[in-house]
Amino acid sequence: MDYSIKSDSLDKLSTECLLLGFHPKRKLGPTATAIDEAWGGLITRLLKRDDPEGKPGEILTVNHLPEGKIERLILVGLGKKDELTASSYRKALVAAANALKGTAARHAASTLHEAEVKEKPLEWKIRQSVETLENALYRYTHTKSEKELGKPPRLEKLQFLFDPETDVSAVETSLKQARAIANGMNLARDLGNLPGNICTPTYLAEQAEKLGKQHKKLKVKILGEAELEELGMGSFLSVSKGSREPAKLIVMEYHGTTAKSKPHVLVGKGLTFDAGGISLKQASGMDEMKYDMCGGAAVIATLGVAAELELPINVVGLVPASENLPDGAANKPGDIVSSMSGTTIEILNTDAEGRLILCDTLTYAKRYDPVAVIDTATLTGACIVALGRHPSGLMGNDDDLCERLVKAGEATYDRVWRLPLWDEYQEQLKSNFADVANIGGPDGGTITAGCFLSRFAKDFKWAHLDIAGTAWKTGNEKGSTGRPVPLLSQYLIDQAQ
Ligand code: BES
Ligand code: MN
Ligand code: ZN
Repeated sequence: MDYSIKSDSLDKLSTECLLLGFHPKRKLGPTATAIDEAWGGLITRLLKRDDPEGKPGEILTVNHLPEGKIERLILVGLGKKDELTASSYRKALVAAANALKGTAARHAASTLHEAEVKEKPLEWKIRQSVETLENALYRYTHTKSEKELGKPPRLEKLQFLFDPETDVSAVETSLKQARAIANGMNLARDLGNLPGNICTPTYLAEQAEKLGKQHKKLKVKILGEAELEELGMGSFLSVSKGSREPAKLIVMEYHGTTAKSKPHVLVGKGLTFDAGGISLKQASGMDEMKYDMCGGAAVIATLGVAAELELPINVVGLVPASENLPDGAANKPGDIVSSMSGTTIEILNTDAEGRLILCDTLTYAKRYDPVAVIDTATLTGACIVALGRHPSGLMGNDDDLCERLVKAGEATYDRVWRLPLWDEYQEQLKSNFADVANIGGPDGGTITAGCFLSRFAKDFKWAHLDIAGTAWKTGNEKGSTGRPVPLLSQYLIDQAQ
């Protein structure tokens, strides 16, 4: 999709489809009012005839217009003018994007950014518009035949309309960021949607390498099992003992500034399929555990965003990738492994494998002397119970870092909610036979997983994002969401300023 800014007077406007907002009682925004006047009140008459209430997301599509230069109209309900919240605005954008997708228009123009949204600047509205439209147009194509897929959407181009007097330089910047983030989300979604028999640890590593070839400042190397052995990553390596697919540590380094500038390190769980191991998961819904690599996919994609935007910072991406399957050689409950840090771990449940691959990667991150380390992982089902599917769970050992993530989450609407890592919770991880147990019992599962990781992140500022509820949608819309690419990208954009 091509996105651009059009600063021209209205009489020069020519488009196959124009998006206009409206409010209850047929109140119109500035461009809509001007067009309505120019057309002798046609829009008002159309709204009178069909009489929509103007609720957020209500759509009135006008497919034929007498005036030739604007071929179609999509009128989008925005609710009461002074009550438009971020959430309602997004709802309206989703409805508008789907309506637009349903027309045959190739070129469209939008004025929906004219509406005032509570607490949100113009740049936010532009970024959200691009993201919503990209999400609506996204199609997973890899493993479906052409016949099943049908025709791709026709839309090719969207223009954001501004009057010639408006200074659009800030909008240009947000458009550039929005495009890069949308590309990153699409990559993360594709990787998340691919099945475990295609998206293996080796495949994930190849995708990272491919991205490295596309950007001069992005260097990618892959550590194999022999090297992980050498490093002493006994915890990481234990998880894939039951798998035929070799474990890989994907190491991505983006050099956006001088070598002496400390890097921001992103770590992402890249478990390409999680059957639970000997502590086997139940059969129903197990297919969805192909998305257990979405943290890793988001990290790979976010390094692509940093490179595309040429951010003037250094960023390292670390993705431990492996499979968790039952087998005669697999980890067994009660097994004890030695992590790279020297801490011994009693594996009381082989299904709590994410933390086992992450802890060694966190230890590895220390060698970069990082500004901060942020890990992101589909770590606990308990996170979905605690927070639902709207925010990601946030935990960390540094208030300032956590606040930055909260802020980046608000700015992108890829939101997070912080949970405590109090000492009292650490008690739940006691083991009679090793330094730490890999599970903390039924209470506060997301927090005890965070507590486990915190033991391997003592030497730097660290935050953990549990994306079990946000990286994926179940039910009719089953599939990957591309989160938390917007959050991580925004965090890096903020760091670059
Ligand atoms: N990958 C899962 C967590 C998960 C569950 C993500 C559901 C998305 C949806 C993780 O490896 C896991 O199995 N965690 C266990 C931990 C438990 C054994 C302490 C869980 O959540 O049940
Ligand atoms: Mn598991
Ligand atoms: Zn898992």
